[in-house]
Amino acid sequence: SKQLTVGLFGFGVVGEGIYQVLLQTPSLQAAIKRICIKHPDKVRNAPADLFTTDYNAILNDDAINVVVELIDDADEAYKIVTTALRKGKHVISANKKLIAEHLQEILELQEQSNASFLYEAAVCGSVPIIRNLEEYYDNDLLQSVYGIVNGSTNYILSRIASDGLTYQEALLQAQQLGFAESNPYLDVSGRDAVNKLSILLTHAYGVLAKPDKLLYKGIDHLQAADIHYAKEKGYKIKLVAQAVKVGANKIAAFVLPQFVTTDNQLYNVNNEFNGVTLESKLADRQFLYGKGAGRFPTSSAVISDLSALRYQYRYEYKKLNSPVEHTLTTDYFLKV
Ligand code: HSE
Repeated sequence: SKQLTVGLFGFGVVGEGIYQVLLQTPSLQAAIKRICIKHPDKVRNAPADLFTTDYNAILNDDAINVVVELIDDADEAYKIVTTALRKGKHVISANKKLIAEHLQEILELQEQSNASFLYEAAVCGSVPIIRNLEEYYDNDLLQSVYGIVNGSTNYILSRIASDGLTYQEALLQAQQLGFAESNPYLDVSGRDAVNKLSILLTHAYGVLAKPDKLLYKGIDHLQAADIHYAKEKGYKIKLVAQAVKVGANKIAAFVLPQFVTTDNQLYNVNNEFNGVTLESKLADRQFLYGKGAGRFPTSSAVISDLSALRYQYRYEYKKLNSPVEHTLTTDYFLKV
């Protein structure tokens, strides 16, 4: 099969993970040719001649057939991803913000090229939620998708509740362990989770909704007393992202901290783990669970995308053209 020649953008928590995995796993038949970074003076655990600060060293290299985009800045990522697709390179990205805000446009670019745009790592780290939603469910059968999609906030809530850490201590640990965004406000404000929810809506229901259109609250306004109160009652507080059918073809979608009881699968999703419950007419209830953040769990999803390229996989977005069209509603909140 064809050798994949990779141009990597970003050498942070996940970028360095991918580099290590590809180096140690020749059977993946994917080699990194160049790595584009922003700060050339940082000490890096890879040969110096791999690195460049020039986007074009990758984008103009015809030998590079796959761009793996793992940088922080969504505006820069936008330039990289759109240019790479225009040049017919496959693109793998973990950039939730970029995808949530520009999916429609990137899809049009994908349509015009033979390349694939894959992003399993953008939602729930190691948990294969996007391909499952894309492949397995007819949108008309899916009643709801809800779960924990941000590892950092779940880590913070878990450590406060079970180990008595303060919010600041728990947040610092989430950062040190490589779970948090470089700007952790994105995690604690619920913004990262709502970006992921926006992506889930497309694959679950064929709804293209920018994150600004969705209601969200994070955990930054919670008090330690709230978390301890929940514990006293035998509950846990979890930051839950939810998309639910609330009427004929109407979807309500929101991210909110919720009390979760012991009979809910999400009760047992702790620390950096993520978990998503899927309710559908035929299957009843299913649950997907795994590590949602961190170097190697997230790398595993990027690797799954690299493998998917070998059989020309691309998302077809069949639900965007489904006979059953879903729309978002905010009525739900007027009733509850
Ligand atoms: N900051 C994100 C999280 C990383 O904590 O879930 C994975 O998307």
